[in-house]
Amino acid sequence: MADKKELRIGLIGCGFMGRTHTNGYKRVNDFFPEVEYRPVLKTVCARTEEKVRAFADQWQYESIETDWREVVARDDIDAVDICTPNSTHEEIAVAAAEAGKMVLCEKPLARDVEEGQRMVDAIEKAGVPNTVWYNYRRVPAVSLIKDIIDSGKLGRIFHYRANFLQDFTINPDVPQGGEALWRLDKEVAGSGVTGDLLAHCIDTAMWLNGGIRDVSAVAETFVKERMHQETGKEEKVEIDDACIFHCHFDNGSLGLFEATRYARGHKALYTLEINGENASLRWDLHDMNRLEFFDYEDDPEVRGWSSIHVTEGEQPYMDKWWVPGLSIGYEHTFVHQVADFLSSLAEGEPCSPTFREAQETQKVCEAILDSASSGSWKETGVDWS
Ligand SMILES: NC(=O)c1ccc[n+]([C@@H]2O[C@H](COP(=O)([O-])OP(=O)(O)OC[C@H]3O[C@@H](n4cnc5c(N)ncnc54)[C@H](O)[C@@H]3O)[C@@H](O)[C@H]2O)c1
Repeated sequence: MADKKELRIGLIGCGFMGRTHTNGYKRVNDFFPEVEYRPVLKTVCARTEEKVRAFADQWQYESIETDWREVVARDDIDAVDICTPNSTHEEIAVAAAEAGKMVLCEKPLARDVEEGQRMVDAIEKAGVPNTVWYNYRRVPAVSLIKDIIDSGKLGRIFHYRANFLQDFTINPDVPQGGEALWRLDKEVAGSGVTGDLLAHCIDTAMWLNGGIRDVSAVAETFVKERMHQETGKEEKVEIDDACIFHCHFDNGSLGLFEATRYARGHKALYTLEINGENASLRWDLHDMNRLEFFDYEDDPEVRGWSSIHVTEGEQPYMDKWWVPGLSIGYEHTFVHQVADFLSSLAEGEPCSPTFREAQETQKVCEAILDSASSGSWKETGVDWS
């Protein structure tokens, strides 16, 4: 370890994502010994001192801060990792880039395209390494889909279908705003399921199947008013509780996407399916190490959907973990992204998705919301070339 270069991390936000990223930093050198960098947990920041101190003790950060500006100003920090609610991403990322820090930012990049563009401009002006945590790309089975599509096995692609279904806001007594429930507050989140769930589906979809050209969407807010945790008053709910859109991809295929927080019984059912002229692929987050594959080239006597357990050393990332047949989980996707980020630093290459790529997803999200409110098709303006 002594021969590795240090990458001194300043983590901002110590909630759900703060934990997944920290786990990634702690595990990466154990399982990816070839990476040339060693993350150092230099400081963690959140607004409440007691809370951030407990987090720092548990996860072994060297120091704490309660104002992110202090993290950005410190000269012993190389990379700022943004794990805070969406409304804070722009201000922190722009300041960090201007201070010459590398920036790793949680998704969605921003609340809207305008904010996202200012972030891309600041990052590119500073010329600092950057990435956005669209981690589902780094599920081995999803990475394998990418390899299979790129090999040409599917032939021409006709359909791309994705769902992201949850049920945690059905109860009208669930408040909006504040800790944990900032996702229901439009001012903080920017949008509802579109920026939260569809953004993941869109990033994966464009990575696998190319740019989305235009969209037609419907969205609904099923519970119109909720108590706001910060004001204690009933306030209008302005986020989209559910959103469905269809689209054209640049390659001529059709897309169909649905996200909701009102699908009773579903907690995080992210599924996707791709149908090509020669073969189809299907994946489900609840069985994330499995990939279903139908190949029309197979002998008709035995042709059918096969179920591939993606745990072989020849499959993406799996040579780093256990022995064939043994599964890995959600947390490993973040270890993979840390490993890829560190490798990209050593190679002087961008780590995809960059801010610029994440901004293309932002454009699709904005076109979806525009389409849903206007009732008409919208061009996305995406450039995925
Ligand atoms: N990649 C994924 O799959 C995934 C999953 C969940 C969340 N996210 C994204 O990660 C981000 C954080 O989400 P989360 O679920 O971890 O949220 P969370 O509510 O669990 O944690 C947010 C943290 O940010 C802190 N915080 C809020 N405002 C702050 C400020 N001004 N300065 C410093 N700290 C501040 C809070 O105290 C808390 O520790 C969001 O952008 C979200 O969309 C991504």
